[in-house]
Amino acid sequence: NMKIYIFDNSEALFERLSSFYIKEIKSNPSLKLGLATGGTPVPLYAKLVADHKLNGTSYQNVKTFNLDEYIGINENHEQSYRTFMNSNLFNHIDIKMSNTNIPRGNTKDNYEEIRIYNKILEENVIDIQLLGIGTNGHIGFNEPDSQFDSKTRIVSLSKETRYSNERFFKSIDEVPTHAITMGIGSIMNAKKIILVATGNNKASIIKKMIEENITKNVPASILQTHDDVVIYLDKEAASLL
Ligand code: GLP
Repeated sequence: NMKIYIFDNSEALFERLSSFYIKEIKSNPSLKLGLATGGTPVPLYAKLVADHKLNGTSYQNVKTFNLDEYIGINENHEQSYRTFMNSNLFNHIDIKMSNTNIPRGNTKDNYEEIRIYNKILEENVIDIQLLGIGTNGHIGFNEPDSQFDSKTRIVSLSKETRYSNERFFKSIDEVPTHAITMGIGSIMNAKKIILVATGNNKASIIKKMIEENITKNVPASILQTHDDVVIYLDKEAASLL
């Protein structure tokens, strides 16, 4: 069921992907977008911003729902996912901040925050969920062994994930140990899922996700069972297929 698109380079990939998003936003102005962070989607957001400036594509009625957030850092910490989304996308388009949803990792009561975010996701069916993938197969921060029907919850980050994200922090000690993440069950509820992977370091997990049996060891492998998944790969990420 997975559609797989392979591009010669990431420029071509993001050109096609951004055109797809722009077309969807124009044809449904109140689209509900599931958004992702990490290095991978940065060029997509840059292209959406450029298009908004040039062509005025409007996000007035678009609602967004992010996958995850670190626990224990402030919302305005330079590496919070709220800061990432504001500075890569939201600050540069005409979206209403009140229409942007990101779980908060710094509230007094994490369980209340989980309840609130799950309620938001029950009340809103995401039209298009964007995903990156961790080198260990995580989606959002759903690390290996996560339940496929999981909902929003607090998770501890694996050593591999913390080391992958070390590049964004001053040292490994500053990388948060926990996160709040949308569960795999909620991700699978989206009408359409788009997973993007670029670069050689994603080649081996992409092969496992697409070609091997579904296993909790590779959380993204469950996408094989969703009925509308499109995988966007550059040549490097597709090199082992
Ligand atoms: C991060 C995020 C994921 C992201 C993944 C890959 O930690 N929680 O949503 O898809 O890891 O990140 P990158 O795109 O930087 O490789």
